[in-house]
Amino acid sequence: MIAIGSDHGGYELKEHVKKHLSDKGIEVKDYGVFSEESVDYPDCAAPVCRAVQSGEAERGILLCGTGIGISIAANKFSGIRAALCSDVYSALMAKQHNNANILCLGGRVTGRELAFMIADTWLNAEFEGGRHAARVEKIHNIEKEQ
Ligand code: RB5
Repeated sequence: MIAIGSDHGGYELKEHVKKHLSDKGIEVKDYGVFSEESVDYPDCAAPVCRAVQSGEAERGILLCGTGIGISIAANKFSGIRAALCSDVYSALMAKQHNNANILCLGGRVTGRELAFMIADTWLNAEFEGGRHAARVEKIHNIEKEQ
């Protein structure tokens, strides 16, 4: 299952990405928001991050206006590796090299069709492990030190 969530700035694109993935037969659980009423993006990051942390969701997708705030918030959750992507190459690398378990998108920045390509690329990619696993491990060592 893929967990998806956004603030008001990412709401519209969230709805489109959700439908795009559902239409492909991918199970998507929407953690809100459900309107364009103004909210605080850290509050919107939390339920998706917790779903990924607990294993309820395999991966998560988070959106805000730029994708910046919600990615910063998501990366404060232990075990979360959230990657803000606005191009397909970065989406591929985010999984292959960084093993990103959350993809972040900017609803006011990234066009709908590009967002679909970014999400598809990231979802279809596999972590390469090896030297990249050692690097990801170093990230989590920093987390443990803090
Ligand atoms: C909300 O206006 C906006 O600040 C938010 O969606 C996001 O872009 C923050 O990084």
